[in-house]
Amino acid sequence: MSVIGFIGTGHIAAPMARFLSGKGHRINVSDRNANVAQSLVNSIGARVLDNQAVLDASDIVFLCLRPHVAQAVLRDLTFRADHRIVSVMAGVPLATLTTLCAPASDFTLTIPIGFLEQGGCPLPACPQPDLLASLFAPENPVIGVATETGLNAHFAICTMVPGMLDLMATAASWLGDQTGDQNGAAAYTTQLIAGFLVAVQGRDDKVLARERDALATDGTISLQMVEALRDDGVHDVLCDALQAISARLGD
Ligand SMILES: NC(=O)c1ccc[n+]([C@@H]2O[C@H](COP(=O)([O-])OP(=O)(O)OC[C@H]3O[C@@H](n4cnc5c(N)ncnc54)[C@H](OP(=O)(O)O)[C@@H]3O)[C@@H](O)[C@H]2O)c1
Repeated sequence: MSVIGFIGTGHIAAPMARFLSGKGHRINVSDRNANVAQSLVNSIGARVLDNQAVLDASDIVFLCLRPHVAQAVLRDLTFRADHRIVSVMAGVPLATLTTLCAPASDFTLTIPIGFLEQGGCPLPACPQPDLLASLFAPENPVIGVATETGLNAHFAICTMVPGMLDLMATAASWLGDQTGDQNGAAAYTTQLIAGFLVAVQGRDDKVLARERDALATDGTISLQMVEALRDDGVHDVLCDALQAISARLGD
């Protein structure tokens, strides 16, 4: 078991800390955010320390700061050569971390989502998957991604989650207007998509197209929906947004 520290104790640090504590690791967290840190003291017996003390007391360090404060916070800290560092910070390049965290040289970049605490969260790992796999698999599948450009493209895909939720909220609201039952509409729409995706078998590269084509056969209302979205340019808008977000992270 390892001693694992978190610099930045916010929304994404907390579920990771709880998951890793459940695996038997000892958890140190920084004293910001104070409320989240205190809740981790209560729930998993985390130790709350200042940033430097977190580093000094930990073998593995998760960097969970907002990107715009990362440089100012990290440059004042003293890292060790044997620290293993995991950064979840969108758009903070490996080259920057290498400078800020020297002499540490073992870095992994990843993208956790809060539900990793329950399992089932895919974790891209750049440049090597080994450390994350040892910490989060098998509950959370770890996917090796060789390049930072590739990792930034995964960050872009993550933004589809709020994008899809927004589309679903529009659809659920439309359904509620038809039925007069907004709660039932939200429940139906959410469970329909969640249940469908859970039931999908296989994770090969054709799975999404195969499931679509099984529904959207000739003459069906399913095909009418697929074609309407394509004809009105929704796929072009999606691909343009993915490209722009990925490029922004690489700036
Ligand atoms: N949220 C997600 O689902 C998610 C998913 C993937 C990746 N990420 C990445 O995770 C990072 C953190 O996001 P988040 O959503 O967890 O943000 P957040 O809730 O705002 O957490 C950031 C934490 O950093 C703390 N902090 C600020 N200044 C600090 C300092 N000088 N020393 C130590 N800690 C300090 C903040 O404390 P105060 O509140 O006291 O300022 C806060 O607890 C971001 O880089 C984001 O790109 C987030």
